[in-house]
Amino acid sequence: MMTSRAASPFSLSDNVARMKPSSTLAAMQAADALRAAGADVVDFGAGEPDFDTPENIKGAAEQAMRAGQTKYTPTAGTRQFQDAIINFYENQFGTRYERSEVMGTSGGKQALFNAVVSLVNRGDEVVIPKPYWVTFPEIAILAGAKPVFVETEDTGFSLRREQIELVLTDRSKLVILNSPSNPSGRVIPPEEFHRIMELVADRGLYVISDECYLRFVYPPATVFSAASLPAALRTRLCIAGSFSKTYAMTGWRIGYALAPADWMKAMLKVQGHSTSNPNSIAQQAAIEAFNGPQESVASMLAEYTARRAWLLAALKEVPGLSCNEPEGAFYAFPNVTECLKGKTKTSAEFANRLLTEEQTVVTEGAAFGAEGYIRVSYATSMEQLREGVERIRRFARRLLEE
Ligand SMILES: Cc1ncc(COP(=O)(O)O)c(C=O)c1O
Repeated sequence: MMTSRAASPFSLSDNVARMKPSSTLAAMQAADALRAAGADVVDFGAGEPDFDTPENIKGAAEQAMRAGQTKYTPTAGTRQFQDAIINFYENQFGTRYERSEVMGTSGGKQALFNAVVSLVNRGDEVVIPKPYWVTFPEIAILAGAKPVFVETEDTGFSLRREQIELVLTDRSKLVILNSPSNPSGRVIPPEEFHRIMELVADRGLYVISDECYLRFVYPPATVFSAASLPAALRTRLCIAGSFSKTYAMTGWRIGYALAPADWMKAMLKVQGHSTSNPNSIAQQAAIEAFNGPQESVASMLAEYTARRAWLLAALKEVPGLSCNEPEGAFYAFPNVTECLKGKTKTSAEFANRLLTEEQTVVTEGAAFGAEGYIRVSYATSMEQLREGVERIRRFARRLLEE
């Protein structure tokens, strides 16, 4: 008898077969499905701002369309877009990149894909600290490389150079850093970043610094870009950046990468044969985002700051949960292991039951390599936060009594 696999007309890529679908996107879709069925859903799953794109940015896009900026652009993006990125980094971090070191991309995600795919070979090891953004290991797998994870739970998810050192082998090629981190909200302090880059330079490795949440940092932590490291430490560094979170532009699909010219040339080959160039209209919008007034960023950050303070205090009062203070991004990452000692054993079961019993979406920590945790996004209104925390409290009490 033929197995269903043999009966399938498809002989799919082994690398793609090894990839997992995105849990964060799955959580968003689960929330949408429940909402469509009429449920009163509280959504803490979203990895995107609940704010609308600022008006000045929308205006720039409208003007671009009217002016006929609707054609292919150079693969790296227009010179004006490259210059807006260069000027932003020079003004903010004092480092001047050349045009040969800068490209626009279709979101930060494409910057990451370009950077990994153009660097690693089959069997290379890609070093990824836990907890990680769900996409990092999957890009490595797609490229035929092997993700190797760094344990950080013993330091409350604050990454240390020594933790990376423990997993390095002769096959290590690339380290992917993400500060502020999705999901933990942890920020790598500048001195530690420096120490990690020295290690990377000593071992002849490469680093991608995913700076997607660059500006969403809460005092006493400070905004820090790897671009401000000394030139000698930046020779093997690629920065992946995004307009999605900072300017509430997730749907526009616009981001950028900064890397040494040789790496950039390889990334441009990948992009040239995949998406050709970032969306021409989104590029004009992104120029306005970087060059125009920044009040909208400040006001979104003020709102996140208030929500974060409220949420952390409220989660402290939930029985069975304990939560580190995230220093950046817009997520809390509470430990729920106390609630997993009865009938419900895993973070995925926790998230599934919370969804069906309380119509509340969170993302299971296991998706980020951190079983025993859940990710709670506070990119949602105070009203939703209040209602959602009340539902989590009710649910946690129930689990503790089971
Ligand atoms: C850590 C991290 N990096 C990159 C991205 C990708 O952002 P985008 O492709 O929308 O720019 C995300 C989005 O959730 C993220 O959380």
